[in-house]
Amino acid sequence: MTNQFSHGGGRPSAWTRSQAAGLERTDRTVAPIIYPAPSDPFDGWHIWDTWPVRTRDGTIAEIDGYRVIVSLTTEDTLLPGKRHDLAELHYFYSPDGRRWGHGGPLFDGGAFGSRQWAGSALYDDGDLYVFYTASGSRGESELTYTQRIAGAEGGRVSVSPDGEGITIDGDWRHEVLLEPDGRFYEREGQSRGMIYTFRDPWFFEDPETGETTLLFEANTPVPEGSDRCDGDPVQQEFNGSVGMAITESGDLMDWELREPLVDAVCVNQELERPHVAHKNGSYYLFVSSHRHTFAPGIEGFDGLYGFVADDLYGPYRPLNGHGLVATNPANAPFQAYSWIGYFHRDELLVTSFFNYYDYVGESLDGIAQLPESEQLRRFGGTLAPTLRIRLDGDRTRILGTLDHGHLPLPSEPLPELRSFEGRTAGY
Ligand code: FRU
Repeated sequence: MTNQFSHGGGRPSAWTRSQAAGLERTDRTVAPIIYPAPSDPFDGWHIWDTWPVRTRDGTIAEIDGYRVIVSLTTEDTLLPGKRHDLAELHYFYSPDGRRWGHGGPLFDGGAFGSRQWAGSALYDDGDLYVFYTASGSRGESELTYTQRIAGAEGGRVSVSPDGEGITIDGDWRHEVLLEPDGRFYEREGQSRGMIYTFRDPWFFEDPETGETTLLFEANTPVPEGSDRCDGDPVQQEFNGSVGMAITESGDLMDWELREPLVDAVCVNQELERPHVAHKNGSYYLFVSSHRHTFAPGIEGFDGLYGFVADDLYGPYRPLNGHGLVATNPANAPFQAYSWIGYFHRDELLVTSFFNYYDYVGESLDGIAQLPESEQLRRFGGTLAPTLRIRLDGDRTRILGTLDHGHLPLPSEPLPELRSFEGRTAGY
């Protein structure tokens, strides 16, 4: 199918096994160890996947001096392993990117899914649009893992009546926007390995063409007997992709699927929370992924991975040759996850959530074996220190950090860089 924005062929760009074979922890890519903040601004809540409310150009929206985030949220008495089953979208606001007020649940009960997973939020001329993952079906008695991409419009953002903080309300109208087509995007019934993915919609408007897109996490169908991965049926189960949809009419509740931008067939099953940041004519595409979702024979990490291209549609090449941009230190390999980057002047600022500390287990299931009080003690469930990253063509480097959850507005200067863990900070 062609349209005024159609670009050359050759999609999706492949993240190959030989590129991923080069993955390694280095000084440029390992984030500093995280210690809990002296006091947790999200006390009372577990928060994990988080996204700032942004404007069409991708910058953080400044709403009467506040920034607003939406987070997957549960009460913090819940065991960490249960959080995905009860996730709800809550919003928080901050006057300085350090103190956060709890606004409350984002929706008033009309959302699709038995729970909601990650997405994005667009603040456009006073209107709020939210794109999210509807997981399972509303009212289901047994949890299912069906994933659909949903949208909600009609949200209103205002300063709270007492002048302190932000209130989000409005007459939300929800719609299911996208479901997998079975051709570009695997359906639940086609899945051969781990549970399929079709989630995490991310709004991106291309500043060069004005095209409006949604990126999302998906899987490429690989039928049994395929010759992909030299016919290796085990590797074929690892089929993550970064999906794309466009709106030809500009209606933000009306999207059409297009071919994926990138896939990782034979390499990795989950390219999570894809998002693009644009700078100086380059498109930087980022995803989060886990060590345990890499195909056998590839040694990956829980980390932020990135690709760069001169055009939104690619071809994309992995940053640093292999794709790794930021990971946890080897002695705390699961300390943070679900990284989201945005440009602030010349630096890429990357927020994530502080997951487990002093936890060195091999898998996320490991923590579920611990006594309940231990599980709760070890779980961060809050925002991690924001990473400051320099991007230079295909090369990246962690320069340092900001405080836990510090998300500067475009107008705010950044503090001086400090050296950290024996590494020199700075350019
Ligand atoms: C990544 C993720 C997302 C999903 C959410 C569910 O942290 O797997 O892809 O939307 O967690 O909790």
